[in-house]
Amino acid sequence: MLSVRNLINTPSLTRDDIRQILDTAATFEQVNSRTIKKLPTLRGRTIVNLFLEPSTRTKSSFELACKRLGADTLSVAGSSSSVVKGESLVDTVLTLDAMNVDMFICRAKYAGSPEIIARTTGARVINAGDGKHAHPTQALLDLYTMRKRFGRLEGLRVGIVGDSLHSRVVGSLVPALRTVGAEVTLVGPATFLPAAPEALGATSCARIDDVLGDLDVVYMLRVQNERLDGAAIPSVREYAALYGLDARRAARMRPEAVVMHPGPVNRGVELTSEVADSPRALILNQVNAGVSVRMAAIYLLLGGESDVVSD
Ligand code: CP
Repeated sequence: MLSVRNLINTPSLTRDDIRQILDTAATFEQVNSRTIKKLPTLRGRTIVNLFLEPSTRTKSSFELACKRLGADTLSVAGSSSSVVKGESLVDTVLTLDAMNVDMFICRAKYAGSPEIIARTTGARVINAGDGKHAHPTQALLDLYTMRKRFGRLEGLRVGIVGDSLHSRVVGSLVPALRTVGAEVTLVGPATFLPAAPEALGATSCARIDDVLGDLDVVYMLRVQNERLDGAAIPSVREYAALYGLDARRAARMRPEAVVMHPGPVNRGVELTSEVADSPRALILNQVNAGVSVRMAAIYLLLGGESDVVSD
């Protein structure tokens, strides 16, 4: 079982927690490749998917994960709940909690929302992405994808290119990579980089071309137009020219190096379609891993039985 009660962010996970989640996900991946993908493991448990901000990948994969584990799910969206009438997050959670639910999975615009939920309910909580803070299951599925491709995580050289400052993916991925012994370089213009990357255990670099040939994983971040305060970059066109990965630039990568992206991709900005759709790109492998990794996180937090694949 995991050393944590809730999955709020990756710094609270030990190396053994991460190994357990990835190993359990590998077992669930086998289940997900069967014709019949449903297990009775969490039959009778109720999970609330509270998505207060838009999502395609995370929401769909959590819903599938809950259903494939046999749990009952309740989907609550910000736009169709009493949140639009002004009900607070705490009152929303207390209301749903009164229906005896077992877990809240929460995507929220405001950083810290999953912690507030965890303080409000005795149910387990998984952070499905909160503001600019954290996105722990994204980090775990990224680690799963890297481990599956390279057979290891320790010593992998990972370059994260783009808007590290506004990215909740970075808030979870960098600590998780450091916990498992990978090396991390943050790449981008100064306005996109944290002031002290060394405090995160990372190095930084202003020019993608200076590091591209040394990396095992080139992890491209989305330019988050919705989170940019003012003009952090002169123009999207200039950003694409300086930091975007096109076929000419990708040709300088190591032969075995891969391209990853959390999605959704701004085609023509971070990645050209030629690169996004190339064999180097693991973007859909990441999406595929999302279901198994989220099944593993839910299963381990709710304390399911160990015999997960029988039946
Ligand atoms: N990567 C990710 O969180 O995508 P969604 O916003 O579509 O869930």
